[in-house]
Amino acid sequence: MGRAVLIPLLIIAGAAAVASRTGAAVRVVRTLDQRGGLFAPRGARLYARVAPRLLRGLYRRVADDLVGRVGSGSAPTIIDLGSGPGQLAIELARRLPGARVIGVDPAAPMRDAAARAATLAGVATATFVHGEAGAIPLPDASADLLVSTLSMHHWPDPAAALREIARVLRPGGEALLYDARFVTYSDRELRRFTKGAGLDNRTIVREVLPWGRVRPWALVTMR
Ligand SMILES: C[S@@+](CC[C@H](N)C(=O)[O-])C[C@H]1O[C@@H](n2cnc3c(N)ncnc32)[C@H](O)[C@@H]1O
Repeated sequence: MGRAVLIPLLIIAGAAAVASRTGAAVRVVRTLDQRGGLFAPRGARLYARVAPRLLRGLYRRVADDLVGRVGSGSAPTIIDLGSGPGQLAIELARRLPGARVIGVDPAAPMRDAAARAATLAGVATATFVHGEAGAIPLPDASADLLVSTLSMHHWPDPAAALREIARVLRPGGEALLYDARFVTYSDRELRRFTKGAGLDNRTIVREVLPWGRVRPWALVTMR
């Protein structure tokens, strides 16, 4: 077989192998993001500029979903884990004036962009603090809801993150973790993480969302 045929075949086989194993896809995307400097000042500034336009539809749908769950007149405490440049947290704070929205993110340039955007939007009830999924800087049972968009595939230890999420949620609270479908862990992987985290009492469900023609988003719910 000539090289002209072999090389494309190898590339297709490699891509198929990666796509069929979520864990591998997660590692590839995480490495690309880190090497590409997504969390460094320039990368974060660029993401903060493009995300509001490119991902506006996602933020709106997620906000609709959350407001539908808590009720527009309620005053919940909501954590946005891996809040990045803050668009979702700001949208939630706008739609739920009684809510307290806390964005948690390890990247200072992302938090700075989020704080600037909140000031520009005149939103004072969304704040942004340093932390990460494996060490959420909030007390036990302090949040009614935890949301996350496009961040779970960055978490180095998903089991530790789920344990932290369970710790900060009040009884009856739930976590809604939205991510691109191809980097969302499989049911089997999620069950392994919850078991590893000692969360056998929790229900974890993965679903592909019926949003858009190619259905690019998935949601992991933990109750
Ligand atoms: C692709 S951005 C998504 C940001 C935002 N949620 C959005 O939807 O636009 C991924 C975010 O996850 C954050 N992140 C990376 N590692 C993390 C970790 N271990 N725990 C929590 N967040 C993390 C990054 O700093 C970044 O802001």
